[in-house]
Amino acid sequence: MEEAFLKLWRKFEILGEILKKIVTSGRLMDPKYWLLKGIRRASIVCPALSKVLRTGKALIVYWSATGNTEKVALAIQRGIKRGGLEPIVKKVSEARGEELYDYHLVCFGTPVHHSLPPQPVMRFIDEKGKEYRDRGEVRLSAPKIPGRSVLVFCTYSGPHIGLNEALPAGKYVRQFFEHLGFDVKGEWYVVGEFHRWV
Ligand SMILES: Cc1cc2nc3c(=O)[nH]c(=O)nc-3n(C[C@H](O)[C@H](O)[C@H](O)COP(=O)(O)O)c2cc1C
Repeated sequence: MEEAFLKLWRKFEILGEILKKIVTSGRLMDPKYWLLKGIRRASIVCPALSKVLRTGKALIVYWSATGNTEKVALAIQRGIKRGGLEPIVKKVSEARGEELYDYHLVCFGTPVHHSLPPQPVMRFIDEKGKEYRDRGEVRLSAPKIPGRSVLVFCTYSGPHIGLNEALPAGKYVRQFFEHLGFDVKGEWYVVGEFHRWV
């Protein structure tokens, strides 16, 4: 009897440890984790994303030389699809003609090259910025346009100073969308393996 009790006790201890690990790892509070698992749960963890993920049109734009940013873009696509939406996925070279205001949610992904987005991403932002400025869409104090949200994602390696290597790239993309009046729902920084110089 005593042995059976001890066995049961040990089982609970192991389960408790596993549960503690999951909770303290912060994974449960990370919308990224839930977004990859499915929109419904992502919406619960991150209510800010809830509405845009249930209604509306989504566009995913990214650039990737060695595949890391593409992986994240496709994982986001899968997550959004599970929620019943059909996001359009484009590389920056294919997205030049896109009207960004046509989408309720734009997910924009870039790797970090020397702490900033790489040239093709910078060029996209320069060109689009000029287009929207010429159209008078860049206004003083950048008033938010209702129902237009953006999610910025960056992949980086961070071998020298960690996340601080990636922040300038994420912030650069963020300020571009903020100038256009998008509401930034999140900046996601994902560590990606360094494959090779490009
Ligand atoms: C030319 C070049 C410069 C890079 N510079 C940085 C850097 O300054 N900081 C950093 O954390 N990672 C840097 N990396 C690593 C990439 O950001 C990382 O591997 C990223 O996930 C690559 O994305 P991709 O596979 O989508 O191209 C650099 C990679 C390359 C090729």
